[in-house]
Parts: sequence; C-alpha cells; structure tokens
Amino acid sequence: MSEKLFVFDTTLRDGEQVPGCQLNTVEKIEVARTLEALGVDIIEAGFPISSPGDFNSVREISKAVSLPTICALTRAVKKDIDVAADALALAKHKRIHTGIGVSPYHIYDKLKSTPEEIIRRAVEAVRYAKKYVEDVEFYAEDAGRADNEYLARVVEAVIKAGATVVNIPDTTGYCLPHEYGAKIKYLVEHVDGVHRAILSTHCHNDLGMATANTLAGIMNGARQAEVTINGIGERAGNTSLEEVVMTLRCHKDIGVDTSIDAKLITKASRMVSNLMNMPVQANKAIVGRNAFAHSSGIHQDGVLKSRETYEIIDPKDVGVDESVIALTARSGRAALNHRLELLGYKLEQEELDIVYEKFLKLADSKKDVRDDDLLYLVGDTAAIRHDARIRLKYLQVVTGTLVPTATIIVKFGEREVMATSTGNGPIDAAVTAIKGLINEEVVISEFLIQAINKGCNDVGRVHMQVLNGERTAHGFSANTDVVRASVEAFIDAINKLNVTEKE
Ligand code: KIV
Ligand code: ZN
Repeated sequence: MSEKLFVFDTTLRDGEQVPGCQLNTVEKIEVARTLEALGVDIIEAGFPISSPGDFNSVREISKAVSLPTICALTRAVKKDIDVAADALALAKHKRIHTGIGVSPYHIYDKLKSTPEEIIRRAVEAVRYAKKYVEDVEFYAEDAGRADNEYLARVVEAVIKAGATVVNIPDTTGYCLPHEYGAKIKYLVEHVDGVHRAILSTHCHNDLGMATANTLAGIMNGARQAEVTINGIGERAGNTSLEEVVMTLRCHKDIGVDTSIDAKLITKASRMVSNLMNMPVQANKAIVGRNAFAHSSGIHQDGVLKSRETYEIIDPKDVGVDESVIALTARSGRAALNHRLELLGYKLEQEELDIVYEKFLKLADSKKDVRDDDLLYLVGDTAAIRHDARIRLKYLQVVTGTLVPTATIIVKFGEREVMATSTGNGPIDAAVTAIKGLINEEVVISEFLIQAINKGCNDVGRVHMQVLNGERTAHGFSANTDVVRASVEAFIDAINKLNVTEKE
C-alpha cells in the first residue's frame, strides 16, 4: 500500500503568470473543472490582491469547483490575507498560502531585513491567516538557496504558529536533486513537530531539474508536490504534473502515489496548451506529440512484437490511443472522427463533413497531419462546437473594388438571425453585422492570421483577442477561407464573453 502524495496544482497561479498565457475567468473555470476531474487535491486559483481579475477568478472558481481545496496566494502582509480570505469566502474547502523570502538574497537585498525579523513576520502572517481558515500553507520563498539550519528554524516556528503545510520552494531552480532531497531530509530530521505539517515541494525548472528535484523531495519525506500542467510557468517553468504522477506510477518501489486519474492527462494537457496558447514541445515527456511515436524501423518492429521493448508507459494509461493512425489524404471520415474523439471533440455529421473537407485540403499539402493541425481545423470554435450558444450558420461576402458587404446568419441557440453590413473589408463587414446582433459593446484588440504551411491554398489560423469593458476573451479558428476563419474566431471569443442577443 503506497503513501499518498497530495497534488497541488498551480497552473492557474504560477503557470498563469507567464506573459501571453493569461486566461479570463470563464477559461479559468474550465481549467479548474478539468483539474477537479483529473483528481488534483488542491487548486491554487490565484493571487487575489494582485488584481481585480485574480480576485474574481478565485471567487468564481470557489463557487464552481467543490472537491479540491481552493488555495489563494498572499505575501506575509495582513491586507493580502484579508483580501484572500474574502475571495475564498464561498469555497467549500479553502487554504491560504502565505509566505516570505528566507534566502540571504531575499532577507538582505529584497526585504532589507534580518533573519529574526523574517521569522517574526512569518509567524505573524500564519497566525493572522489562521483567524480566517484552518488550513494555512506557508512558503519559505527561495528555500532552495537558504541555509538549512536557518530554514529549519523558520519551518519550526511556522508549524508552531499553526501552518498545516510548509512549502519549500526552489524558486530559482538552482538546486541539484541530491541537494534538494537533502534539504527535505534535514527538515524531517531537525524540525521539532515536523509531523504536524506536510512538507511540500515547489520546484522551478531553470536547470531542467524540476521533476528530478521534486522526486528527490518526495523520496526524502515531502508529501505534497506543487506542479503545473505541461510544466507551464515563469521562465523555464514549474514541475510538470504529468511527469511526477507517471514517474510514481512507473516506480512503484518509491511507495508513494497520487489520486490523479492519469487517463485524463492528455486531454488536460491539450486543453491548457490551447487555452493558454502555449504549444507543448513535441518531445515533452508524457504529453509531447512524439512521446509515444516510434519512427525508426527497428523501434517500430520491436513495439509491434511487444510494446514493452521500447515503451515504459502504455499510452492508453495517459489517454492516448495506442494505435497511432497516421492521418493522410487517403484517410476516411471514420479515422478522422476517431482521432477527433480522442482529442475530446464529438462532432455531429454535418460538422464532421465541414472539418473533413478542411482536413482533405490540408492533407493534400502536408504529408503528416498532426493533432495540433486537427485542433486548429476544428478551431475549437463556437461555429463548430455544437454545444456553443452562438454559431455561424451562413456567411456570404462581396469584396473587391465595390463596397465590401457581408450577409450572415447566426444561430443563437436554435434561433436563426440574419444581418447585413458593409465595412472597410469583408471581415470588418461581417464582424460589424454580428456586433449589430448583440447587446454588449465588444472591441477587437488583437487579430492575427497565420498560414499553417505556405502557399495561397494554405489553411489560415486566426487568433483574435476581444474586449468587453474589463473582460478579455480569445477566439480561435482555422480555415482555407480566412474571412470565414476570422468570423468564426470572433464568434468563439464572444461566446466566451457570454454576450447576449439583442431583442
Ligand atoms: O517559486 C516560488 O517561490 C513561488 C512562491 C510564491 C510559492 O511561486
Ligand atoms: Zn513558483
């Protein structure tokens, strides 16, 4: 019987700090629900004092998700803790994550303080947070570069003050695995009352050792790991959830396991990558496109005789279909549909026909149609997803030297509405027509059209950022017809903004 490792996911806090990866509240709720289904124990939902958007996301996630503990980050500052407690008010299980820097760089250079004063502030913050919640986690920022003896004094003091979890971050990704493991071991052996709290790893990947350090921490007594999906995070990222989970599954001798439903890992990885616009490197462990692809003849031969010759993980265990069907221009609708279902899309016949047509055009110009090409073909768009509220039914544009004009039919649920408009180009005309059908003022703040391959018969990927007051949403689509792709991306974005139909 293995011991439990608590999985603390910080995709929505440390992961979301990456420039260009910001999500709106609706998207964050989508990610949080996926993390809940995956079985993570704690979701760090944000840093409420940092912005009204973060505050709102923590609040909305607290309402939307009930199984995991919802955690909010603070500095060791009373105002931060007040705001975090307020944001967490509606959470079923809640945790405040407070802390302060403990390395010489932080104590003297950043905080202009002294080691004793830092301990005083740490204890005060934990006691203050305890007034609001029972579950208080303390982070000893830059513990990776802190002196172990001093770190042990900090950890002992915060446990005495009531911390239920103590996080030992390697904030700069500096440690070597044996050093980080020894740090955790030192704390286990030298901190009085250490068994009253859980020690947590929080490793950054600056030297590519985040997963190795996390495992070293676990093997020396840590029982919570702070991770992100795809290892997303500032600079070189955080420890990746999937790597830790699958290493523990592969190495049962470690005697520690998580409650993660690994079959949902691939789906979660793709969802986070799409929503955050952060592609996963092809050779990324567990979730990379090539993680289970065997290209050399010798390996293919070996795997066909016995999977274990070149595979340590059954791809099905992480939600990847074992039989990798190469999609080519000769593939039929059934093969395409099968692949799309694995990617989490269930299309109706009419929709499949549309995607299939796009697929054939792409397959003609590209030898190897990959999953991310398919995702762009489906476009994750409101126009294709049959569960989307607003969908594009019909689009006709007149362009050229005359006044560009667009006629559209948009479905709001089952209701079809037609509109016509002119514009300075066909996209402007179509978007203006749609804007005339909705109550909210929306503005396009970013608009990018990119060719997947090259050539004028290419598929264009569209990415659009749309604003409604303070709210932001991103829309995506892809099509050989870039006007249509642009309109679909716009509809995708306004669906995410939950706009309403004009009466
Ligand atoms: O890396 C780090 O030290 C952090 C803390 C704020 C927990 O992210
Ligand atoms: Zn961090």
